[in-house]
Amino acid sequence: MARAASALDYRELARRRLPHFLFEYIDGGSYDEVTLRRNRTDLQDVALRQRVLRDVSAIDTSATLLGRAVRMPVALAPIGLAGLAARRGEVQAARAAEAAGVPFTLSTVSACSLGEVTAGVNAPIWFQLYMVRDRGFLRDLLAQAREAGCDALIFTVDMAVPGSRYRDVRSGLAGASGPLGAARRTFQAMQRPGWAWDVGVRGRPHQLGNVAPLLAGRTGLDDFFRCMRENFDPSVTWRDLEFVRNEWPGPLVIKGLLDADDARAAADLGAQGIVVSNHGGRQLDGVLSTAAALPAITGAVGDRLTVFADGGVRSGLDVVRMLALGADGVLLGRAWAYALAAAGQRGVTHLLNLLESEMRVAMALTGVTRIGEIGPDVLARP
Ligand code: GLV
Repeated sequence: MARAASALDYRELARRRLPHFLFEYIDGGSYDEVTLRRNRTDLQDVALRQRVLRDVSAIDTSATLLGRAVRMPVALAPIGLAGLAARRGEVQAARAAEAAGVPFTLSTVSACSLGEVTAGVNAPIWFQLYMVRDRGFLRDLLAQAREAGCDALIFTVDMAVPGSRYRDVRSGLAGASGPLGAARRTFQAMQRPGWAWDVGVRGRPHQLGNVAPLLAGRTGLDDFFRCMRENFDPSVTWRDLEFVRNEWPGPLVIKGLLDADDARAAADLGAQGIVVSNHGGRQLDGVLSTAAALPAITGAVGDRLTVFADGGVRSGLDVVRMLALGADGVLLGRAWAYALAAAGQRGVTHLLNLLESEMRVAMALTGVTRIGEIGPDVLARP
């Protein structure tokens, strides 16, 4: 299995390993991918303040997220279809997260079901929810998440409709249902024999484990986006969030906010956390990067709830940048999917170890020894 020297190397390794439609789905953004690029460049433009002679011999990266002690303030973000990146991939990634002492979040549109993933780990996982039209189904899904011991619900609200993702149209994942779409994907899979055998053949069944009952026998891959459009509810308002609040007694995190007024509404609703996010540049192209939006939001609600951020994070240095901009925790998205595709559970473990050691270096060279000390003070241009 391929091993990367840095987290950034896993992207290229994933590109060589995955069928084209799957790599493009993970890697791509919406429309012209302006926000996708901004997430990276704005974060890289965050300049840190180099400090010296401050005794950094004992660095502690540990933190508490939503009441859980974690080795570093990082969690694996929910990623749809991630389980197809490696054989029963979400189980492998959840195991790596558990070993690394960080939470794993399972997407509503995962390949492996809640039951399969929670049976494969001892630590509780977080569950990500999309609002589907069928509220009875939603109630059952939340009951399953409670029974499976999930200790936080990450409720994604920035997908009223899927963004315009043209890479998925070109690759055949979107808008190509029926035998033609399946034939295109099979052709692409045959060009990746390692994946075809390990995941395509030995990794069956291929379906959307949690929403299979909604799909009436279809796998969900037939036309992934049509499945989302048919089942996701674009009429959702803050009032429906109260429904979720009532059905879910545990920690609730609202994911996909970029605006301080929306963040205040989430706090008013009694959410324990928010994720400042533009869905990895996959929804409305042209919106602000997370790094640009974050300071105004932490200024507005940072003392009322836990603020997570995602978007463009590829290293421990990036984690420190997000924390310096005011986040309490960081969700890691594409980075773990690439590592999973390249080297399975070992890849994700390696990635998380890399992240922790990069955080230690960044903390030592900015002169801080505790996570709580990372804030605007470590920014060169606060
Ligand atoms: C699903 O969550 C997606 O962003 O494709």
